[in-house]
Amino acid sequence: MTHDPLPHLGPVDHIGIAVADLEAGKRLYGEIFGLRLVFEEDVPTERVRVAAFDGGGLRLELLASTDPDGPIGRFIAKRGEGIHHVCYRVDDVATVLAALKAAGLTTLDDAPRPGAGGCRVAFIHPKSAGGVLVEISQPPAEGGHA
Ligand code: CO
Repeated sequence: MTHDPLPHLGPVDHIGIAVADLEAGKRLYGEIFGLRLVFEEDVPTERVRVAAFDGGGLRLELLASTDPDGPIGRFIAKRGEGIHHVCYRVDDVATVLAALKAAGLTTLDDAPRPGAGGCRVAFIHPKSAGGVLVEISQPPAEGGHA
C-alpha cells in the first residue's frame, strides 16, 4: 500500500517579528539596517499593523499590536518582543492545512482565513512544530505584494 506524499511547504515567505513600537522597528530595519520597506498595512483579522521589509527572497514583517488583547499584544506581554512566526508559501492552503491535520498536527485554524496582502493563511500550533508558530500562506491569484 502506498501513501500519497504530503504536499510540501514552499519557500519561506516571511518571518513575523513582534515589536512593541512600530515606528522604532521601522527605524531599526529601514534606517539603521537599511532594508527597503515593501508595504505597511493594518490586518484587522490579526489586530496588528504590519510593516514589511525586503529581506532578500523573503520578507521581514514587523507586527505591532493594535489591541492589547490581540495575539501580538498577548505575545509581547508574555514573552516580550522577538520572532513570532515563520511563514511558508503554499499553492493551496486548504489542501496543505488538511494534510497537516491528517498528519496529526494541531492547528490554530480549522479553515484558511484572510491574512496580509490578500493572502489566505492558516497557523500550526507551536506544540506541533518544535516550539515554532508556523504560518502557511497562499498568495492571491494576481500576485499581491511584490
Ligand atoms: Co505572517
